[in-house]
Amino acid sequence: MAVLRLRALVLAVCLVCFYAPAPSWAAAGDFLRCLSASVPSQLLFTPGSPSFSSVLVSSIRNPKFLTPGTVRPLCIVTPINASHVQAAVLCGRRHGVRVRVRSGGHDYEGLSFRSVQPEAFAVVDLANLRSVRVNRASATAWVDSGATVGELYHAVAKASGDRLAFPAGLCPTIGIGGHFSGGGFGLLQRKYGIAVDHVIDAVLVDAQGRFLDKKAMGREVFWAIRGGGGESFGIVLSWRVRLVPVPPKVTTFIVPVSVNDGAVDVLTKWQEIGPALPDDLFIRVVVTNGVATFQSLYLGTCDALLPVMRGRFPELRMNRSHCREMSWAESVLYIYVGSGKPVPVTDLLNRTTLMDTSNKATSDYVRQPIGRDVWAEIFTWLDRPNSGLMILDPYGGEISAVPEAATPFPHRGGVLYNIQYMNFWAAGNDGEPNVRWIRDFYAFMAPHVSKNPREAYFNYRDLDLGRNVVVGNVSSYEAGKVWGEKYFKGNYKRLALAKGKIDPDDYFRNEQSIPPLAKNK
Ligand SMILES: Cc1cc2nc3c(=O)[nH]c(=O)nc-3n(C[C@H](O)[C@H](O)[C@H](O)COP(=O)(O)OP(=O)(O)OC[C@H]3O[C@@H](n4cnc5c(N)ncnc54)[C@H](O)[C@@H]3O)c2cc1C
Ligand SMILES: *[C@@H]1O[C@H](CO)[C@@H](O)[C@H](O)[C@H]1NC(C)=O
Ligand SMILES: *[C@@H]1O[C@H](CO)[C@@H](O)[C@H](O)[C@H]1NC(C)=O
Ligand SMILES: *[C@@H]1O[C@H](CO)[C@@H](O)[C@H](O)[C@H]1NC(C)=O
Ligand SMILES: *[C@@H]1O[C@H](CO)[C@@H](O)[C@H](O)[C@H]1NC(C)=O
Repeated sequence: MAVLRLRALVLAVCLVCFYAPAPSWAAAGDFLRCLSASVPSQLLFTPGSPSFSSVLVSSIRNPKFLTPGTVRPLCIVTPINASHVQAAVLCGRRHGVRVRVRSGGHDYEGLSFRSVQPEAFAVVDLANLRSVRVNRASATAWVDSGATVGELYHAVAKASGDRLAFPAGLCPTIGIGGHFSGGGFGLLQRKYGIAVDHVIDAVLVDAQGRFLDKKAMGREVFWAIRGGGGESFGIVLSWRVRLVPVPPKVTTFIVPVSVNDGAVDVLTKWQEIGPALPDDLFIRVVVTNGVATFQSLYLGTCDALLPVMRGRFPELRMNRSHCREMSWAESVLYIYVGSGKPVPVTDLLNRTTLMDTSNKATSDYVRQPIGRDVWAEIFTWLDRPNSGLMILDPYGGEISAVPEAATPFPHRGGVLYNIQYMNFWAAGNDGEPNVRWIRDFYAFMAPHVSKNPREAYFNYRDLDLGRNVVVGNVSSYEAGKVWGEKYFKGNYKRLALAKGKIDPDDYFRNEQSIPPLAKNK
């Protein structure tokens, strides 16, 4: 049990009182005094500040992390320039206070703003550092970590007259910083691969407070930050990316198939067809109680799409009435919202999300098609009380053509599709039966998914897969294998060596950060 004590601290710029774990309150006071010397007081929020709660909650996406039991930071810093980020790291280092960095706040375990064990830590919230600078002529952009993917997509579409795009996630409010740090996949992955396949430079603040670009950070660290997981190597301030061409009009369709109409057969078939279609065609499936909904993006016209569907996937019985032609930027929201109604493209800039439900998620990779009988049984799982849903994202094409060691994201050749399991419950409920359902369903799925290791996607973070064990003031490399090899397969060791280079003291640490490994081990 943590003993929490109230301490009143008088600071140069703010008069505050806050709760902090007893052992570090003195360090915390020194840390805050240090910060006050370099960061304007209106950018610092301690639990005594009137806006502390609203700043903390501003980008929380899961109300289950709003309970009184959640371990909160002793301070939130909201930098408006890079020197403030540097100051947070230098003061944190000097006074033994760790920082957790938050970009979009979508972390499934909330690790960008909470600690699982009581600990005095600060949050560096990058929401104010979010410019997007598009260079149409070179088809590149610099994007700051605090931007959302929606802000990136909007800027790219606008600057290019809907001719350029970027291959990353579907939900417009996810933050660039966390999303790129873990890979970043979405509806363009079969054509163009994932976000980190297109990162060509970056600016990192390391544990010594240095600003490092691609060249200065060195080959191994630049490799590691492109998918090796957020928080582990330092704070990435901005990313230079290569943009990709898209036709000015793309085609989307959404086709629901109920179990009574043959969803089990269509899904069984989809497993082999989805990953083998032409790269311009992406068909994912959302599987809920009694219905499989096929959601698709095609980089071309409806006229060109119809013969492909008739030839390759007649079982879906898709026809012209399902086609909706629109710009690529519009297609993101059309498919994400999924209501079948058009959504204005400016909604890509809306950073507010609904907070009416909490959720729990986890993931799997499938390398062998799942049998028809198993699909029939899966639908009985989705029909139970307190059940959730599955999202199946097809691989194949470019995402699978990139070699496994080219980036830390290892789920490449041979993967048929990714499964995300998700369950929701009303904010305010404890969600225990919903979490139990997802854990039981995950256990049921074990024989049918990838093995040795049972692969998982880092950005669908799940602490059930394991967490760090600290030995002698650094996270243990051996203990970290339990979760690290699921997320990174054979790349885990190389990530640990890169961590050993850039942050051997393990200053940047959370429950699933990469442990440092010294070279001679
Ligand atoms: C509704 C929803 C939809 C999603 N859809 C997709 C999808 O389509 N495709 C997909 O691939 N993923 C998807 N995700 C997962 C998403 O990619 C991850 O949750 C991602 O980590 C979120 O990034 P963030 O900046 O919003 O999160 P944060 O919570 O801010 O950060 C996540 C982790 O990265 C660290 N971090 C944040 N910023 C930085 C930085 N600048 N430098 C270093 N470390 C940093 C944090 O400390 C934390 O550990 C979705 C998530 C949600 C909630
Ligand atoms: C960053 O902000 C500080 C004020 O906190 C200011 O002194 C400094 O000049 C700014 N730096 C840049 C590069 O804008
Ligand atoms: C443990 O690491 C932290 C962060 O690097 C450091 O501040 C602290 O002094 C270290 N403690 C010991 C006992 O080495
Ligand atoms: C197209 O599909 C819809 C829905 O499945 C169906 O109602 C409609 O009759 C079909 N149209 C044609 C021309 O086949
Ligand atoms: C932004 O999205 C939220 C959540 O969906 C919604 O409630 C709000 O009305 C939207 N704001 C604007 C300006 O559209």
